[in-house]
Amino acid sequence: MTRLRAAVVGATGMAGQQFVQALSNHPDFEVVIMVTSRTLKNYNEALLESDGSSRWIQNTPVPADMLEVPVISSKEFRPETVDVIFTAIESDLAKELEPWFAQTTPTFSTASAFRYFDDTPLLITGVNDDHAELIRKQQRERGWKGFVLPVPNCTVTGLAITLKPLYDRFGIQNVLMVSMQSLSGAGRSPGVRSLDILDNIIPYIPNEEGKVRKELLKILGEYSSEGIAPAEIHINCICTRANVLDGHTESVFVGLKKQAGLSEIKEAINGYNPFQNGNLHSAPDRMIHLFDDPFRPQPRLDRELGGGMTTSMGRLEEESVLGGVKYVLVSHNTKMGAGKGAVLLAESMLARGLLHG
Ligand SMILES: NC(=O)c1ccc[n+]([C@@H]2O[C@H](COP(=O)([O-])OP(=O)(O)OC[C@H]3O[C@@H](n4cnc5c(N)ncnc54)[C@H](OP(=O)(O)O)[C@@H]3O)[C@@H](O)[C@H]2O)c1
Repeated sequence: MTRLRAAVVGATGMAGQQFVQALSNHPDFEVVIMVTSRTLKNYNEALLESDGSSRWIQNTPVPADMLEVPVISSKEFRPETVDVIFTAIESDLAKELEPWFAQTTPTFSTASAFRYFDDTPLLITGVNDDHAELIRKQQRERGWKGFVLPVPNCTVTGLAITLKPLYDRFGIQNVLMVSMQSLSGAGRSPGVRSLDILDNIIPYIPNEEGKVRKELLKILGEYSSEGIAPAEIHINCICTRANVLDGHTESVFVGLKKQAGLSEIKEAINGYNPFQNGNLHSAPDRMIHLFDDPFRPQPRLDRELGGGMTTSMGRLEEESVLGGVKYVLVSHNTKMGAGKGAVLLAESMLARGLLHG
């Protein structure tokens, strides 16, 4: 099968580098062009800082098949020359560029610009795939051949994945969550100052808690041809920044509608595996890994499970205050929670026949 021609917009940034890794030697997509604020010879050159250092900050080398990919400025880019676009740019820029891209080309985005529009689903592959049909409404009403499909905020991703089997089986009344989020989630520019975070935890992340509350209800909401009716769950959270490089850790307390014993709850979690037929390249073998060891999950040890695409859960215990269950999760914020999650979404849209090529 010929691969679809792909562009990565914002390829030099943190989330963009995750796209570059996830799309290296990909069976369905071939990166033929990258887009930044400047036109340069190729990706290798675009990664060079003026002092000679590299902007590449991943712990594996720049993939060899990406080094020579040409880089052009967004002003010169012609979206109609590619079949699919992956964007990793700031939200204000996304508001400007993504509607232009979508006129001709399906666009997968890590930015928040489109997340809250009524005609835009907030998809996590394997959680709410049925919401994908809403894309047709977006195309119809906006007169687009393509679409804009954003991935959710990286903090809500692990939360939604772990709540999904509980919601489906028992119903959920209340959720309380406290996050300890990694530094990479703040990006690199401006990012978090090392003097602030060293030996420290910062108890506030501007705008984060509202995003988690709103996005969770949309993701677990019910799709109809009218749109998405938000899930009726009471949710609150406290989001903090911790001195961890990658991987968001979250402590979660859940009030269930139908009371259940721990063995039934474990069975629901272990039985939830939407990827068992293994036909999506970036999908992990297991959506959730449930640890019995009470010292797990830990971000340093467990964030790379399933290539950074498996959400880890542990400390699973009955919870008497809300009447349900409590647990700790670890989710890779820049893999399942951003670039690689967006690539998985593109794979699932291709499999559903929603990408033209
Ligand atoms: N960091 C994360 O883990 C994470 C997780 C989830 C979502 N996100 C979201 O992903 C987006 C990008 O975040 P980031 O942390 O990767 O930001 P970043 O490191 O600051 O990267 C921004 C990218 O945008 C490019 N850019 C700037 N102006 C441009 C223009 N006019 N045209 C085209 N490209 C332009 C930059 O290229 P040059 O500087 O080379 O020109 C760079 O590649 C944000 O919306 C963020 O909220 C990030």
